[in-house]
Amino acid sequence: MCGIVGFMSRNTPAAGPLVSGLHRLEYRGYDSAGVALVAPDGLRVYKQTGKVAELDALLKRELSEEDRRRCTIGIAHTRWATHGLPTRENAHPHLAGGGTLALVHNGIVENYASLRAGLEKRGVQFVSQTDTEVLAHLVAHYDQGDLLAATCKALRRVEGTYGIALVSAKHPGEMIVARKGSPLVIGVGESDIVVASDVSAIVAFTRQVIYLKDGDVARITPGSVDIHSLDNAPVSREVQEVDWDIGAIEKGGYEHFMLKEIFEQPDALRNTIRGRLDPTGGTAILSGLNLSPRELAAIRRLVIIGCGTSLHAGMVGKYLFEDLADIPASPEQAAEFRYCNPIVGPDDWVIALSQSGETADTLAAVRESIRKGALVSGLCNVVGSTIAREAGRGVYLHAGPEISVASTKAFTAQVTALLMTALKLGRTRRLSREEGIRLVAEIMRIPDLISAVLERNDAIARAAEKHANANDMFFIGRGILYPTALEGALKIKEIAYVHAEGYQAAELKHGPIALLCPKTPVVALLADIPGKEKTLGNVQECRARRAPVIGLVTEGDSEAAAAVDDAITLPPTSRELAPIVSVVALQLFAYHVARLRGCEIDQPRNLAKSVTVE
Ligand code: G6P
Repeated sequence: MCGIVGFMSRNTPAAGPLVSGLHRLEYRGYDSAGVALVAPDGLRVYKQTGKVAELDALLKRELSEEDRRRCTIGIAHTRWATHGLPTRENAHPHLAGGGTLALVHNGIVENYASLRAGLEKRGVQFVSQTDTEVLAHLVAHYDQGDLLAATCKALRRVEGTYGIALVSAKHPGEMIVARKGSPLVIGVGESDIVVASDVSAIVAFTRQVIYLKDGDVARITPGSVDIHSLDNAPVSREVQEVDWDIGAIEKGGYEHFMLKEIFEQPDALRNTIRGRLDPTGGTAILSGLNLSPRELAAIRRLVIIGCGTSLHAGMVGKYLFEDLADIPASPEQAAEFRYCNPIVGPDDWVIALSQSGETADTLAAVRESIRKGALVSGLCNVVGSTIAREAGRGVYLHAGPEISVASTKAFTAQVTALLMTALKLGRTRRLSREEGIRLVAEIMRIPDLISAVLERNDAIARAAEKHANANDMFFIGRGILYPTALEGALKIKEIAYVHAEGYQAAELKHGPIALLCPKTPVVALLADIPGKEKTLGNVQECRARRAPVIGLVTEGDSEAAAAVDDAITLPPTSRELAPIVSVVALQLFAYHVARLRGCEIDQPRNLAKSVTVE
C-alpha cells in the first residue's frame, strides 16, 4: 500500500534520503511516486507514474544541483491507487495554497466528496481525482500562520483514516505529520529526523523511533519533535529502540526477498518458539496472552480472523483447537465477519491474525469484537502495530521483517503460534501432560523439519520446470491440509499469475473436475497422516481425467509416490506439523514457477503488502 517518507535536517540534502526511503517501501506495492522539497524560494515537486527508479531519474534530470544541495527538508510518497487512476496528477504530494503547501497521505478520506464540494464553493480548483487533495486544500484554507493548528482544524473535519506528512513554503523550517488508523513512525537520529509509514524506511538512519498513536499530530523542526492531540494539547510519546537492523531487510545474497524469507524459516521459527515451551509441564508459556487458567477455562468458542495468507493460517488453527482443546473454532475472513453481524460475546475468544498488524479489515473486526465484549488477542509479526496494540494481549510472531509481498515465514510462524496457543488451551482441558510433552517435542522439531524441506529445493525446482507453462492449476488437500492447498494456490496466483484453485480433495469431483485435462496440473497434499488414503483415491480420479498430478508425499511412502506423476518428498511428520512442512514445499514450487515465467516476484502486480483500506 501507499508509503510515506519525510526528511528533516539542518544541512543534509533531503532528496537522496527520501528516494532511498521510498526504495525501502517499494515492497509494499505501489503504482506511482512523488517528492516535494522545500527550497528557500518555494517548493520543488516531482511526480512520476511507475517505479521509484523512474522518479529518481526524473530528479536527476530536473532537480538542479543547487536545489539538491540546499533542500534539506522534504516529503515523499509511493501511491497505491484507490481514488482515481495511477496517473501523474493523482500521484502525491498534492498541492494547495497556490503551490505553497504539499501533502502526502495514506488511508482514505471517507467524507471527501462533501469536503471537496464545500471547498469548490469557495473557489478552490482541484487537479486530481483523489481524496487526498481535499486534505491539502483544507489545511491551506485554515492556515492563519500556525501550521500545526491549521492541520488539527482540518483533520477534525475528516472522517476516515490517515497518515499524513506536509510541508509549506510559508513555514519553511517545519513539517507536520499526523496519524489516525494508518501508521506513522518518527525516527530520531543524531542530527536528522526521518519520518515514515513503515519502520523499514527508517532503520538505515536510526533505530530510535517514536510510534505515533491515533489522534497524534506532530510538529517537526530540525531539532525537535512536538506531539499534540487533535485539539492541540501537548502529549508525550516515548522513544523506543527497534530490535532489528538494516541487515534484516536486505537480500543477503538471495535473488529475491521471497526466497530469502523462505530460507529464513528455520531461524524465524526458532525465534517464534524460543522461551515459549515448557517440556516438563507439557505446555506453552505465552505470557503475552495474559489469560488466567480460569479465563481460559471459561472460553466456549474461538473465532479466528484474518485476510489472505493469515486467513489460511487461521483455517489451520480450527483443526488445531478442535483437536487439541476440544473447543469449536471458526476461521472467518475479517471483512465478512465484521459485516455479518458477528455474534460474539464474553465467552468467545477472538484471535486476530495479521503479519503487518495493520490490515484494515482485520483491525475493524478486532474493534467490533472488543465492542461486543469478546476476549480479543492479536497474533502479529510487526511489533507495536495497531492490531497488536489495540488487542492489548497476544503473541508476537518474532519472525523478523517480511518484505516479500507474498507471505511465507509469517504463515509458518502463525501456524506455530496457533499450535502453541492450542496446546496451552488444550492443557486446561482434555490434553494430558503426556500428550502435552509429545507436542512440545514436536514443536521443537519444526525448524529442523523445515530445513529438511529446504534441502529438496532442487527437486522442487525440477517439478516446477515441468509445469511452469500451465495456465491453470488445482491444489487439493484434506482435513488439516485443506488450508495448505488454499495457501499453495494463493502463492502461485500472487507471484506467478497462474490461475489456481485450492479445494478440499473430496470436493473436486463435485464440479471442478469438469475442468481437468492434460493441461491442468493437480498438486496433491499427500503427507502420510490420517486421511491420506482417501486423498489417494481423489488422485486416481484426477489421473483418470489425464490431469498430471504432483504429489507432496512422505519420504519412504512408496504407495503415494507410485500414485502420482511427480513426487516431491517431505520428511515424516505428525498431523499437527503437516501443514507447515507441506507449505514450505509449495512456497518453493510457486517461487520457481514464477521465476521460470519471468515474473517480478517480490512486487507482484496489483498487490500490496499491507492493505490498510477496507
Ligand atoms: C495482503 C497481502 C497478503 C496478506 C494479507 C493479510 O493482501 O498481499 O500477502 O496475507 O494482506 O495481511 P496481514 O498483514 O494482515 O497478515
